Amino acid sequence: MTESALLALRGASFAYEDGPVVLDDLDFDVHEGRALALLGRNGSGKTTLMRLLSGGLRPRAGTLAVEGRPVAYDRKGLTRLRTTVQLVVQDPDDQLFAASVAQDVSFGPLNLGLSDAEVRARVAEALAALDITALADRPTHLLSYGQRKRTTIAGAVAMRPRVLILDEPTAGLDPDGQERLLATLDGLRATGTTVVMATHDVDLALRWADDAALLTPSGAHTGPTAVVLARTDLLQRAGLRLPWGVAAARLLRTQGLLDETAEGPRTAEDLAALAVGVAPPR
Ligand SMILES: Nc1ncnc2c1ncn2[C@@H]1O[C@H](COP(=O)(O)OP(=O)(O)O)[C@@H](O)[C@H]1O
Ligand SMILES: [Mg+2]
Repeated sequence: MTESALLALRGASFAYEDGPVVLDDLDFDVHEGRALALLGRNGSGKTTLMRLLSGGLRPRAGTLAVEGRPVAYDRKGLTRLRTTVQLVVQDPDDQLFAASVAQDVSFGPLNLGLSDAEVRARVAEALAALDITALADRPTHLLSYGQRKRTTIAGAVAMRPRVLILDEPTAGLDPDGQERLLATLDGLRATGTTVVMATHDVDLALRWADDAALLTPSGAHTGPTAVVLARTDLLQRAGLRLPWGVAAARLLRTQGLLDETAEGPRTAEDLAALAVGVAPPR
């Protein structure tokens, strides 16, 4: 599958200095256009894997390839990787540093050596995509958590990456903030960005992702979300529970209310639609 993968890690191993091996001989693919949820227990290596995919860390062994071309870990190679892949770290305070929102978002494009006009256009586009145009001149230290989060995502979007990787992006957001973020990510997907997110939330993954990757001690298990998240054995090893949508589908099937091959509900709306379908005529 290497040829078709936009990003491919092969035989990747990584250990932090003086630490145990975090990832060992890992194969991992990111396919263009597929929304991918990365799941696993705390300490399973999700953040480490995301940093390997975005070039912040270099595998001790193995390779990272972009469209089959191995990444060169020199200035040119890393610049090329960063225009392809952008990582948004979990805590916005680890990423924000400029005085104002617009300054912060312009940092990446400025570093690419783009013209002022091009930088301005990219910043405007990224602020609009994140719905924070009105915050452009706001000092970053006066932003709410959700606004800081949006600013860091805008900074990544301004690089116009083909792959946007987000480390637990919904953590710390209220339900409305989570819904707004998912709508924003849907907008980015619609314009062709491949989105990868790490999350603990199996229900969110089932609803949002095309594919799920479960990080367990025996490696990454990737496949269509509804298939992977129905694997009780893998979920247990990954310290996760069954998504409610999968549990509901099982219940509906045992009751003869859902075809064996039919898709189960991913949202409450899906379930309501199924219920309408099976309700006796009035
Ligand atoms: N900077 C670091 N230095 C040393 N060990 C680290 C560092 N970051 C993470 N680790 C260790 O690596 C393992 C994987 O961590 P991480 O990739 O953050 O997992 P996750 O994101 O799934 O919680 C953990 O055992 C963690 O303690
Ligand atoms: Mg993490």
